[in-house]
Amino acid sequence: MMMETMNRPVVIGTVGAGYAAHLHGNGYRRVSGVPFRLKTVCDVKTDLAEQIKEAYGYEKVTDDFEEMLADPEIDVIDIVTPPFLHIPMAIRAIQAGKHVICEKPLTGYFGRPGEENVGRTTKKSVMYAECVKQMDELREALTHSGRKFLYAENFVYATPVRKAAEIIRAKKSKILFMKGEESLKGSSSPVAGKWNKTGGGILVRTGTHPLSGMLWLKQQEAVARGEEISVRSVTADVGVTTACLNAYEHRHIAARPEDVEDYAAVTVTFSDGTKCLTIASDTVLGGSKNYIEVYANDNALICNITPNDLLNTYFLDEDGLDDVYISEMLPRKLGWNKAFVNDEIIRGYMGEMQDFLETIAFDRTPSSGFDIAYQTTKIMYAAYVSAEEGRRVNFTG
Ligand SMILES: NC(=O)c1ccc[n+]([C@@H]2O[C@H](COP(=O)([O-])OP(=O)(O)OC[C@H]3O[C@@H](n4cnc5c(N)ncnc54)[C@H](O)[C@@H]3O)[C@@H](O)[C@H]2O)c1
Repeated sequence: MMMETMNRPVVIGTVGAGYAAHLHGNGYRRVSGVPFRLKTVCDVKTDLAEQIKEAYGYEKVTDDFEEMLADPEIDVIDIVTPPFLHIPMAIRAIQAGKHVICEKPLTGYFGRPGEENVGRTTKKSVMYAECVKQMDELREALTHSGRKFLYAENFVYATPVRKAAEIIRAKKSKILFMKGEESLKGSSSPVAGKWNKTGGGILVRTGTHPLSGMLWLKQQEAVARGEEISVRSVTADVGVTTACLNAYEHRHIAARPEDVEDYAAVTVTFSDGTKCLTIASDTVLGGSKNYIEVYANDNALICNITPNDLLNTYFLDEDGLDDVYISEMLPRKLGWNKAFVNDEIIRGYMGEMQDFLETIAFDRTPSSGFDIAYQTTKIMYAAYVSAEEGRRVNFTG
């Protein structure tokens, strides 16, 4: 089904009013050239929904997802709920005739409701098969629906990654090896250590970002060179590195893994024999570390997302700085720091919303859509199989 270019504002309904709803709100705030309305924000906790409404200018709140879906004015449902709700909510939204924006990860394995320690008790091959089944169900719902699936992977829109893609396309370079990392000093979320809440550990929480960014860059290369490039195989190592720490030694690291990993390294081999390495660790002090390095036949591109060198700060005291955001995951602002400047732009939160609203308004294809979401989750769960079974996992399709 073809859509006409819209001659009215794109109307948005957001479900989930937690941390990531602020990232999306800050992104929407900076979109230009596409008329849109932030209509409804839905959360089972209506106090949180009220806060998002006030902060970003939504028109109303609800605690009833079905009520929001029944609103004929709403064009797109922006899903920022916990990962176990992504696929059921996306399928319901598509059935209701809405486009979908969906946070990462697309999905995961979460066990039966209330089941604990699924990370220890369930074989990773079972998890992998279940994730692929869920994603195939979503693909089925999307097929012939005429609706768009917009995967909110900010690394695809991070400004250094966009520039790297422009260079790769212009030079028609062959990327031989990429290395991408998102690491931090652990999460403050009490559920980050539980597989049944997050669908995995640091790999699905943060490793998913550079992995998607690198898959997108490889596809940019493929299109520029007129090649078909797919994923051939996945190998991985994961572990719990903090298990050796006593309580005092653990004091600066927030990671409290119960049945998840706090370290992951995943190698993807592409069908042309080239590679990318994803690193994710919950044990990295010094501020959250986000980068992709690209090593091609005729260039090297180091995408420093955070930290970067736009503004270096030096403080002997923190007087007056209470409300000044300097950087993420740095508990102190003293001494030298690399401040995060225009973080929502550099890290891609504005770019993703700009692309998604243009995609809907002008009936285009998004940079980050269903295929990247699908491949990323499939690779992450293949990585868990590889690490558990000590073998390379081959992809056939
Ligand atoms: N791209 C990024 O950098 C980034 C950063 C953080 C989180 N995320 C992703 O965003 C998503 C949300 O994470 P978060 O940190 O905002 O979590 P959060 O717990 O802060 O917020 C989730 C919200 O969803 C609400 N919710 C749960 N079930 C609901 C239901 N049935 N109906 C309506 N509301 C419901 C909760 O009440 C909560 O307010 C996750 O998928 C996470 O992976 C992405």
